[in-house]
Amino acid sequence: MTSPTSILEGPVIPLAPTDCLRLGVLASGRGTNLQALLDLAAAGQIPAQVVAVASNRRDAMALERAHRANVPTAVFPRADYPSRVAQEEALIAFLRENRVELVVLAGYVPVLGPTMLESFPNRIINIHPSLLPAFGNTLHAQADALRHGVKISGCTVHFVTSQVDGGPIIVQRAVPVLEDDTEETLAARILAEEHQALPEAIRLIAAGRVVIEGNRTRIRSAPLHS
Ligand code: GRF
Repeated sequence: MTSPTSILEGPVIPLAPTDCLRLGVLASGRGTNLQALLDLAAAGQIPAQVVAVASNRRDAMALERAHRANVPTAVFPRADYPSRVAQEEALIAFLRENRVELVVLAGYVPVLGPTMLESFPNRIINIHPSLLPAFGNTLHAQADALRHGVKISGCTVHFVTSQVDGGPIIVQRAVPVLEDDTEETLAARILAEEHQALPEAIRLIAAGRVVIEGNRTRIRSAPLHS
């Protein structure tokens, strides 16, 4: 039996098992997913530490949350740089200074370009508020789900590739869509699951249990690394 592999490079194990994965979180907004990671890390409930937080917006509440937790922050507004490449180079320098091992997009709005993707190959994950591939590549996934009349929605944590919201899926969690849901009630139900799903994906990656095979992942029962 042949095992499925990526055409270019075969199975990829993103990281060796570790007790303290160094996370760099990128966020453009209120930062509740960041807060969940900060709280779990402080309580020793994830084998990870948030070591850097960056945003493209100076007014992101996520920055305030990072300050309160004494995590280094930096802001890289697109308008401050002559090109997206220059903006991403500054962001990469900040992440490298803080020895970030895994980049977590937690409500980060800009689409990453090749400069960033190539600097952290298979080391960038994103949380999206739908069961991908449904309702991807939008900032209104919950409203779109309601409009479409789906009976189940949820969230997805996936690796980031050049295909927006199309990279290998690591974790999904489902929620029911209720008859009287509004965009706000559905978003809140999904958000509660996001706060579980992102830590769950980080635990799996830190344990060395996630193997990327082409455009899917395989979750091993034990790490491949010794
Ligand atoms: C979440 O719904 C996430 O799925 C999406 O952006 C939102 C960020 O929320 N990508 P928060 O800033 O973490 O509260």
